[in-house]
Amino acid sequence: MNSIKACIFDLDGVIVDTAVYHYKAWKRLANSLGFDFTEEQNEKLKGVSRVRSLELILQWGGITKTAAEQEVLATEKNTWYVEMINHMKPDEILPGAKEFVQSCRDAGIKTALGSASKNSMMILEKIGIVDLFDAIIDGNKVSKAKPDPEVFLKGAEAVGVAPADCVVFEDAIAGIQAAIAGGMKAVGIGSPEVLTEANLVISGLDKMSIEKLDEL
Ligand code: G6P
Ligand code: MG
Repeated sequence: MNSIKACIFDLDGVIVDTAVYHYKAWKRLANSLGFDFTEEQNEKLKGVSRVRSLELILQWGGITKTAAEQEVLATEKNTWYVEMINHMKPDEILPGAKEFVQSCRDAGIKTALGSASKNSMMILEKIGIVDLFDAIIDGNKVSKAKPDPEVFLKGAEAVGVAPADCVVFEDAIAGIQAAIAGGMKAVGIGSPEVLTEANLVISGLDKMSIEKLDEL
């Protein structure tokens, strides 16, 4: 008997690969401030909020900015980022993602989105899968960043399922930690060497099935 009653999905890196757009926008910002920003550094920003990402980038560039200046810079980066995601198409959904979320629904399992991104809704609209989720909790609805479990607890609450009966799909270490802190199961999307705390690690949702939920 399957006890999983809800699946909660992170967006960036699980449903779509927006890391490349974040990278281009942050790099443009860093370059405009006179320093470079590498793909390795971008990796460290997965699951990290916009404000915190900027703090880290400024730190790596050895630059200090006031809070007001940081707000302007974060807005500038987001404008460039939005310009890019505005062109996203349904074919950018990662392999198997749409199919697995749909198979959850077919099996009577609730589905929720739990993302730090304030641009979640726009991305879901562009790729045409807003209706696949029973609840959408994004960066506009939470005040505490992952690894705090707030985003996932709100997702569980919104679909009326106890945390212990939820499983979270995440590509970021902080996201896996948030799921565990919330008393949920966690499936990592990525490498087992990195996502060591997850109950199961797969390379993508194309490797997931309803049957595998029983093994968690
Ligand atoms: C996700 C991404 C992060 C991003 C954050 C905030 O967690 O993995 O790289 O910084 O969302 O996204 P936003 O679209 O609100 O800037
Ligand atoms: Mg992510």
